[in-house]
Amino acid sequence: MRFVGPTLLSAIAMPMIVAAQGAAPAATAAPAPVATAGPNTNTGPVTWADFLTSCQTPGQVALTYSEGPSEATMEMLETLKEAQAKVTFFTNATWLQYMQYAGVTRHAYLDGHLIGMTYRLPSDTSAGHTDNDIKQDIARASRTIQDLIGVYPRYMKIHESNLKDPRLLNLVKSMGYTLVGFNMDEYDYKYNTATTSAQIAEVFNAMFTKQMDAYGRKASYVVAGYDVPTTGAASGLPKVINTIQTHGYDMVRLDGCTNDKTPYKKDPILNNGYVGDAKSFGALEYKHGQKSVNYNPSGNQQNKGALPVGSDGKTTQDTTARSASSRLAAVASVMAVTPALAIAYLL
Ligand SMILES: *[C@@H]1O[C@H](CO)[C@@H](O)[C@H](O)[C@H]1NC(C)=O
Repeated sequence: MRFVGPTLLSAIAMPMIVAAQGAAPAATAAPAPVATAGPNTNTGPVTWADFLTSCQTPGQVALTYSEGPSEATMEMLETLKEAQAKVTFFTNATWLQYMQYAGVTRHAYLDGHLIGMTYRLPSDTSAGHTDNDIKQDIARASRTIQDLIGVYPRYMKIHESNLKDPRLLNLVKSMGYTLVGFNMDEYDYKYNTATTSAQIAEVFNAMFTKQMDAYGRKASYVVAGYDVPTTGAASGLPKVINTIQTHGYDMVRLDGCTNDKTPYKKDPILNNGYVGDAKSFGALEYKHGQKSVNYNPSGNQQNKGALPVGSDGKTTQDTTARSASSRLAAVASVMAVTPALAIAYLL
C-alpha cells in the first residue's frame, strides 16, 4: 500500500507514542504523509500558456533531457551525483523494453531525479486515430514507466514533429498531463563532440550574462537537452553545472520549478488527480541546488560510464549492439526539427 490516509496514520502512530512514554524515545517515526492533489480544472483548449517554459522563482535552472534513457545517461547520473544536483528526464518508454535502459531509468529515479515522459504519435499525426486509441497509446507508455518506478509521470514532452497537432495537445491536456516547453536550448545536438561540448556551458554563460546586463537580476530557465550519445549533453554537463554555480543559480527539478508537491499522476488516462513521493517538492527528501564538480576540459570524460549496466548489475552487450542502429534513427528524427523552433510552431 503506497498511500496512507491521516486517520490510519494516527491509528498507527498513537500506540507507538503511548508505548514510548516513560521509556526510551520511539525509534520509528510515523511515515511522512504523501501529498495528493485533485484534478486539473484548467480544461480549455491548449494555448502556448499551457506549456511550462519558466520557473516560479527567479534564479532557478531546471535542466531537462528528452529521448533517453541511453548510453549517455549513466555518465550524466555520475556527474549529477557528484554535484548533488537534480534534473528531469523525459523517458522514451520504447527503450525500457531493453533491460539495461530500464535499469538506468530506475537508477535515475532512485537517485532523486524527476521522471517525466516523451510522447510521439505512431504515424506522427492524430488523423486516422480515435481519441481512445491515442489515449491508450499514451497510457501504454505511461504504464511502462510506472511498472519500473511505481508512479505515473505527469510532466510530458511532446515530440517536436507532433507539436503542431492541436488535437493531440488538447487530448494530452484533457488527460491531466503537464505540457513542457523550454525557454533555453542548450544546443547539445550542435556541440556534440567531446571538444565542442564545452561550448554548451558558454550557452548558459551568455544567457546568464545577457540577462544580468539587461535587467540587473536573475531570470529562470527551463532548459531543453537531449539524453542521447550523439549529443554533447553528457560530456558538457560538468562544465554546465560549474557555470550555473558560478552565476549563483539554483538547479531544480521541474516540480521545484513550479512548486508542485504532486509531480506524478494518479492514473495514466484519467484527469483524476496527482500524487507526490518522498523526493517530490515539499517532501522530506526533496533536493535542489548543486556544488561544483571536477571536469577535464580536454574532454577525456567522453567514454566514462558509456556502457550501461542492467538492473541485474551486468552489462548486456548484445542488446546494446542490436539497438544501436535504431538508436541512431531516433536521434536523426530528433534532429529533424530544430528544437529552438518548436515553440514558434505552436498555434
Ligand atoms: C522513442 O524511440 C523510438 C525508437 O527510436 C522512436 O521511434 C519514438 O519516436 C521515440 N518516442 C518519442 C516519444 O520520441
